[in-house]
Formats: sequence, structure tokens, C-alpha cells
Amino acid sequence: MSSPLKGKTVVVTGAASGIGAATAAYVASQGANVISIDIKPIATPTEQSFQADIGDKHSIDRLIQELPANIHGLANIAGLPPTRAAVDVIKVNLIGLKYLTEQLVPKLADGASIVNLASLAGLDWANNRESIMASATLDFDHTEAFCQTHAIAGARSYFFSKEALIVWTMQNRWTWRSRGIRMNAISPGPVDTPILKDFLETLGTRAEEDRRVMDRPGTPADVALLIAFLLADESGWIRGANIPCDGGMFSHVLCQKHGF
Ligand SMILES: NC(=O)c1ccc[n+]([C@@H]2O[C@H](COP(=O)([O-])OP(=O)(O)OC[C@H]3O[C@@H](n4cnc5c(N)ncnc54)[C@H](O)[C@@H]3O)[C@@H](O)[C@H]2O)c1
Repeated sequence: MSSPLKGKTVVVTGAASGIGAATAAYVASQGANVISIDIKPIATPTEQSFQADIGDKHSIDRLIQELPANIHGLANIAGLPPTRAAVDVIKVNLIGLKYLTEQLVPKLADGASIVNLASLAGLDWANNRESIMASATLDFDHTEAFCQTHAIAGARSYFFSKEALIVWTMQNRWTWRSRGIRMNAISPGPVDTPILKDFLETLGTRAEEDRRVMDRPGTPADVALLIAFLLADESGWIRGANIPCDGGMFSHVLCQKHGF
């Protein structure tokens, strides 16, 4: 049986490491033409690769010029961990991701699928309506002032970036419906990649508790296969969804919080 991704052109950001590298490799193994993007050099060669900074508007503008038309999938995986400067985290994980996606829409094929890497850290989105709504029109030039106004500093930047990304994904459930283009998010729990140590450092005792109740952290492959499924036409009825991929942590946190 032929793979559902065979012959599709798929753009993968964050392809130099972790979940992005695993996704690029898996999707390529399924016969897709993979275009890898990262700020770092990409060790594993794919069909095409570009070094670009997703936190910088000009870099994204240059990248868009170079990318081909008729792209069938976009996996927005590049991201910075909570230990990095708050303004940079918001620019890469949220503003740049949204800007890249919106600029790329004209180059997407009808029926294309967009997959955003959110996080279990974005779970509390419903309780942060005001700041998330205020970020809707945020651009690169105003990110610093936005962070000051909304008290987004330190690790909060990471949580906020993922909360707003989940909401943006849901809001765009039907934005490009006339062209059959859909968007979904995946929220992994702790995954064993180079930034896992940053999460453990940030979450402190909460991370110890998570480690105690989890049987194991995720692997990049656990997430890559779900991304590949969401990129394929077979998942076409899934739209605007945020799907946990976390060994049960999302359900665990919610059941504990609501006393079930
Ligand atoms: N590892 C986890 O526990 C975990 C959990 C939930 C969500 N996530 C999310 O998954 C995604 C992938 O993370 P990972 O764990 O594979 O981390 P990783 O550090 O292994 O990979 C992230 C990649 O993004 C790239 N990147 C960072 N800034 C960039 C920029 N400005 N422009 C272009 N590329 C840039 C990095 O160079 C790196 O290759 C991230 O969005 C992260 O927030 C990770």
C-alpha cells in the first residue's frame, strides 16, 4: 500500500534537533519531499534545507521568497524553551510561527495541512483570555512592550506562547476552509530532547512530581508519528484540534484539578 505522504511536499521547522529532526526523517521515510528549516545547520540532508530565524521578520520574508509553491504540509516545530529570554520565546514560539504560516498560505496547495507544536504547558489557555486576545495583532516590533504590559517574564513566556498558540489554532479551524487547508495543534508532555533539561529546571518540584507519576518521558518518535498522521489527508476531518501526546499527563492534571 502506498504511503499517504508519498510525493507530498512538507516543510518542517526546527528540523535540526529533537521532534523536528525525527519528524523530518520519518516523513521523508514515507516518501515525502521534505524541506527542512532551522536556525542551526541541519545535519541530516532532506530534499531541501534552509537556515532561517523564525524569530526575525526579515529572515522569514527571505525564506518565503525561496520556498517553492504547492506545499502540502507545514509542521511548525521550531521553538525556544522557558529558560530563554522572554521576548525571544514569544517571537519564535508565537509571533514568528504565526507570521511564517500566514505568509506561506499563498504557497500552500489546496487541501494542505498545518500542524503546530504546542505543549502541555499551554493547558491553562482558558484562564488567560485577556492577554491572549491582546496578542492577536501583536507583531515583532511591539513584542517587548507587550511583555512588559502583560507581565510576561521568565518562564511565563513559554507557557503564554503555547496557550496563545492553542487558541490561535482553534480560531483558525475554518479560516482557509474554502481551499481545504486545515490547522491542528499537538501538545506533548515532557519529551526526551535537548530542551527537556530546561523544562525540568523551570518546573522544579512540579517536574519531580511529573516524573514520579509518569512511566517515562516521551520520545521524539512518539510525537513525529502523530504529526505525520495530521499531515496526511486521512486525518482530514480533524480541524482546529489540540491533541495531547503525553503519556496521560493532560488527563492526570485535569482530573486532579477538578477533583475526579
Ligand atoms: N521536549 C519537550 O519536552 C517538549 C514538550 C512540549 C512541547 N515541545 C515543543 O516541541 C517543539 C520542538 O522541541 P524539541 O523538544 O524538539 O526541542 P529542540 O531544542 O531539540 O528542537 C528545537 C529546534 O528549534 C530550533 N529553533 C529554535 N529557535 C529557532 C529560530 N529562531 N529559528 C529557527 N529554528 C529555531 C532549534 O535550533 C532546534 O533545532 C518546540 O516547539 C517545543 O516547545 C517540546
